[in-house]
Amino acid sequence: MNVRDSEAVEALLSAAGHVRVDEESDAELVIVNSCTVRDMAERKAVGKCGNLIAAKEGRGRQSETGGRVKVVGLMGCAVKRMGTDVFKALPGLDFAVGPRRFGTIPRLVERCLAGETRILELPDDDEVPAGMDAHGGGASFQSYVTILLGCDNRCSYCIVPDVRGHEYSRPAKEVVAEVRALAARGVKEVCLLGQSVLRYGVRNKAWTADDPASPGGYVEAFPRLLEALSAIDGLERIRFTSAHPKGCTDELVRAYAEFPKVCRHLHLPVQSGSDRILAAMGRRYTRAEYLSAIARLRAFDPEFAVTTDVIVGYPGETDDDFEATRSLMDEAGFDNAFVFKYSPRPGTRSAALPDDVPTAEKERRDQILLAGQQQRGLMRNNRLAGTVREVLVEGPSLRNAARWSGRDGGNRIVVFEPERPLTPGDLVKVRIAEAHPQILVGALV
Ligand code: 5AD
Ligand code: SF4
Repeated sequence: MNVRDSEAVEALLSAAGHVRVDEESDAELVIVNSCTVRDMAERKAVGKCGNLIAAKEGRGRQSETGGRVKVVGLMGCAVKRMGTDVFKALPGLDFAVGPRRFGTIPRLVERCLAGETRILELPDDDEVPAGMDAHGGGASFQSYVTILLGCDNRCSYCIVPDVRGHEYSRPAKEVVAEVRALAARGVKEVCLLGQSVLRYGVRNKAWTADDPASPGGYVEAFPRLLEALSAIDGLERIRFTSAHPKGCTDELVRAYAEFPKVCRHLHLPVQSGSDRILAAMGRRYTRAEYLSAIARLRAFDPEFAVTTDVIVGYPGETDDDFEATRSLMDEAGFDNAFVFKYSPRPGTRSAALPDDVPTAEKERRDQILLAGQQQRGLMRNNRLAGTVREVLVEGPSLRNAARWSGRDGGNRIVVFEPERPLTPGDLVKVRIAEAHPQILVGALV
């Protein structure tokens, strides 16, 4: 979501006459987009901002900016969490703007260039942002599109609802128009963004009565959006992230079956495999319910890619709870997993509980789950050896530029020899020869 917000800000600044430079050392304006979901993320963003301010003020390592920087801004979730404290941590900050308010940035930059400093812009929880549909002129073939803002789930550990505000679904008409414009510019793949995209159209109506595809009930709002986007010429692939297991319904599985442009990959954060911890987290599903959601997806397509997020070291997590998470990961057969060490976030319900799993134990659990995922990733990928995958070409591979890489519908990285001239954004077929835990290697068909 931050990558998308940054891209929108870049587009808004370009429209206001600013020019992007490739090297930070050439920049006169630097804006750090912050995340506060874990303590480390926030500290990195604030630390980076502090270095930039030091360089602006002629202190610290000039190399950080080459000494050209005149305006330093901070945007994103950490601003909303810190409020006016942001200027205590960063006295030389020129402006700070919370999520859902980034549309004001071009105006804030003007005010700073005219001599103002320490401007704070905090959004309301229900704010509908300006500038959300701004996309840069870059010739990319992939694009993010925000469809849902905020989150109303209130999981015990999570600061997102406090900083990103209430859930709000953008009108389907707006989303469809945005994607249509992107496709007309050559975008082949969009990824629809929201904290919980399957709640699209639940809190506020996304479709109006006069929309031709107006759905009957809210469970249909998201599938109808997929249907409307599927009809857009030139668009080849539709992805979305993230999803809450509660929304992984039969309607959703039907949508995968009905709309072939929708990629068979779902990022479905499980967080824990222990019913006790899931209840404490307020996740509103059980281990069995989660596994049956996955079974529905894999009954539809055994190669359906499911990826997840897991938290280790939640307050009170015992060895048995951890073992339940470990075994759930095996049962679920995740294609990829991100493991996070629990970090208490101020103001969340779980922050009131003792953070009682020692750091070293969190680290140990983290390592065990990561090692398990390496093996499991290899096992899952091995199943694809010998098969032909449809791959959206991205370009020369990062590790070895003689090879090219792209992704299949399951978001798996596929590497191959470019035996004929290719352009990023081409759809090709690749026969898989070798499987590794994180990549597939094959040859063009
Ligand atoms: N501590 C550790 N991980 C967290 N996440 C969210 N809040 C916390 C926290 N307080 C993780 C969840 C979520 C991912 C984006 O970040 O796993 O899915
Ligand atoms: Fe946080 Fe839960 Fe909302 Fe995800 S669903 S953003 S974990 S509150």
